[in-house]
Amino acid sequence: MLVWEEELHPSTNHSTSTAPNLSSAARAMPPSPQQSVSVASSAAAFAQPQLSSVPPSAGEAPLAAHSVQSSSTRRVNVADKRIINGQTDVNQLVPFKYKWAWEKYLATCANHWMPQEVNMSRDIATWKDPNGLTDDERRIIKRNLGFFVTADSLAANNIVLGTYRHVTAPECRQFLLRQAFEEAIHTHAYQYIVESLGLDESEIFNAYHEVSSIRDKDEFLIPFIDQIMDLNFHTGTPENDQKLLKSLIVFACLMEGLFFYVGFTQILALGRQNKMTGAAEQYQYILRDESMHCNFGIDLINQIKLENPHLWTSEFKAEIKALFLKAVELEYRYAEDTMPRGVLGLNASMFKGYLRYIANRRATQIGLEELFPNEENPFPWMSEMIDLKKERNFFETRVIEYQSGGALSWD
Ligand SMILES: [Fe+2]
Ligand SMILES: [Fe+2]
Repeated sequence: MLVWEEELHPSTNHSTSTAPNLSSAARAMPPSPQQSVSVASSAAAFAQPQLSSVPPSAGEAPLAAHSVQSSSTRRVNVADKRIINGQTDVNQLVPFKYKWAWEKYLATCANHWMPQEVNMSRDIATWKDPNGLTDDERRIIKRNLGFFVTADSLAANNIVLGTYRHVTAPECRQFLLRQAFEEAIHTHAYQYIVESLGLDESEIFNAYHEVSSIRDKDEFLIPFIDQIMDLNFHTGTPENDQKLLKSLIVFACLMEGLFFYVGFTQILALGRQNKMTGAAEQYQYILRDESMHCNFGIDLINQIKLENPHLWTSEFKAEIKALFLKAVELEYRYAEDTMPRGVLGLNASMFKGYLRYIANRRATQIGLEELFPNEENPFPWMSEMIDLKKERNFFETRVIEYQSGGALSWD
């Protein structure tokens, strides 16, 4: 069962942070030699997790050398564990401090699925039938895949090359490892749909360069991903800790928690009308995974706030609020671009209310006030989709029920 209502821990204090450097987006979009170097260097960092977990920044330097020595010889004390800037041994999963992270890891494992388990034959027939779908429905599918085929690679790179390096709680790293694999499964699923339908791969995979409503969303995200992937970036100062916290909020609340929702709703609406039910089933599993990722990210953010209340300043909150408003605007533009006319009983203006409703939810989950008071959910059926149990698939495209090893009973 997914947890939607998370405990909030608002607090206050001081300091600043910087605006995203949008000029870095173009550099980051195509794989570059610089990024190849980053991959190699990051791998080296993972090989020495205690070093990578130490904040080496100015003013904090004495902790570094001490930590490398002591954390390898001293038994881990739960009270010493921290989500960021911790100095306990990241190779020792237990003793647990963040049991919620371990439980979420177990829950994601129990939800394991693979794209090729889903039968796509009806979707293929529908797509090939000239009367199977309207032009507007085909546009939705192509735009959808155009965004998602690269979005989940961005997500995976953000986790593996960015977030993972800065998180010093092994329970949380364990979840991030699982999350990274799930992002690979999602990219696999989108590719599987593209391949099954015989879509033009170059059109779909280049959409994030060539379709402005998609590119604008990615250009909003990429500076925050870039920043924490930079090997010269280290936590350990209030300014950099705020940069990391901001990046985590953008990733969990605005990317996974908002930018995915127009697309998910559209494809699931197709499925509800008995069209493209294989794709809809894949999206349903992805939605469930993403909901878990979002909830984990929110727990992570709130725990960092608890441990570092000085980061949650009024200036910082104002900056986060501005990012939420910008994200709602970008996602709404995406809704307009993908639905120039009403389709499937949906239209862009319905999504204005939905996005505001979701933004309110994300804001309150991290301890901010609602941005758009009194918004109602125009799509209550989406909640049912998120809570769906794997063995009771809404679209019923599976022949057999499925349980992963993590959920088997041995009694
Ligand atoms: Fe994903
Ligand atoms: Fe995700």
